Amino acid sequence: MSESTHVHKGLEGVIADTTSVSLVDGAAGRLYYRGYAVETLVNKRFAEVMHLVVFGELPDAGRLEEVEEYLWVAGRLPPDLARSLRQIARHGEHPMATLQSIASLLANEPPAISLGRTQQEEEALIVAARLPAAIAMIHAALQDHPEHRYPVSRRYGERYLQLLHGRCPTAAEVSAFESTQILQLDHGFNASTFTARVVTSTLAPATSALSAAMGALYGPLHGAADQQALEMAFEVGEPERAREFVAQCLATGRKVMGMGHREYRVVDPRSRMIRALAQQVARVPDHVKLLDVLSAVDEAFIEQTREKRRTLRANLEFYKGVVYLALGIPKEFFTASFAAARVFGWIAHVIEQRQDNRIIRPAAHYVGPAPRESV
Ligand SMILES: CC(C)(COP(=O)(O)OP(=O)(O)OC[C@H]1O[C@@H](n2cnc3c(N)ncnc32)[C@H](O)[C@@H]1OP(=O)(O)O)[C@@H](O)C(=O)NCCC(=O)NCCS
Repeated sequence: MSESTHVHKGLEGVIADTTSVSLVDGAAGRLYYRGYAVETLVNKRFAEVMHLVVFGELPDAGRLEEVEEYLWVAGRLPPDLARSLRQIARHGEHPMATLQSIASLLANEPPAISLGRTQQEEEALIVAARLPAAIAMIHAALQDHPEHRYPVSRRYGERYLQLLHGRCPTAAEVSAFESTQILQLDHGFNASTFTARVVTSTLAPATSALSAAMGALYGPLHGAADQQALEMAFEVGEPERAREFVAQCLATGRKVMGMGHREYRVVDPRSRMIRALAQQVARVPDHVKLLDVLSAVDEAFIEQTREKRRTLRANLEFYKGVVYLALGIPKEFFTASFAAARVFGWIAHVIEQRQDNRIIRPAAHYVGPAPRESV
């Protein structure tokens, strides 16, 4: 086969561009944001690490206050927008489908605060700032209860959980949630990020790039693996059933959700940290049992895939559901909560793509009918 017709299925191994946002070291099992190992960032405030990812540096105390104030002011949904969103959400679509449809609208009626960026960047930041309130609004609409009052807290994680539940979360809950969100901020040229870059490369608005990225994240091979991994744990039911379940999946070609990764050849470092968080927050017997089931599936999967050409291990999505569930986030809102963090990574990539843009346009190897005459 000549080089020009070699197909890189799934673009595996293709280096599509450079990036300085995050480094995924798949061989060593390490992840760095802007040069900092994620292990050294995971216990910081979410807004600090978000700032690092989007703007390139950790903020000092003054800048952190400014950014948190921005997210708080910009994050409030204008009343008209809130009403429209509630109506759309009542159609009962999955929260991710609703979010994708309304993402561009979220930048309407800009807030009376700015971070002094370009209009495109500001619009994207408004969308990101408003996602928590939009997610809480969808939740309220689906539960048919009024939305909760906009919290006074400037802290991202506290506001997020309060918007959803209408009660003040504990410090431990806020910290577990922010750590989880930090682990989901960015991850190289994953499918949704690459989607955002493709859309940006056409010079479409940044808000369109975010909306398209949400569509990609909604796929079960990508972000929605979080919801499916937890549903799988429910299906397995008991730790004792894990071996048989895994064996059946492998025999029938069914994927075990939350397992495997394109980049990692050893355990995903985020999975290790998420599992530790799950062990911390799982307190009620149901959650402890879910964790036991997942651990048993993990163990059985490692054992039964030893012979595979590629080392397969748990990824970020595998244990995450236990953390989210323990924080009171319903499983239908897992991927939306993932989007609320990853949106900042998408913005960093939109900015980077715009700085040195060339339209992303790969070639295809044609395998259809040879040229022929129409009758
Ligand atoms: C993440 C993922 C999409 C990566 O895909 P990829 O790099 O294209 O890898 P492939 O699907 O080609 O998998 C390579 C091999 O591992 C197997 N494999 C990969 N993930 C598997 C899984 N979760 N369960 C069972 N087998 C799996 C494949 O069947 C294939 O086996 P083969 O060599 O015998 O054909 C894939 O591992 C997957 O579908 N995982 C489950 C969904 C998931 O957790 N997504 C979240 C990612 S963060």
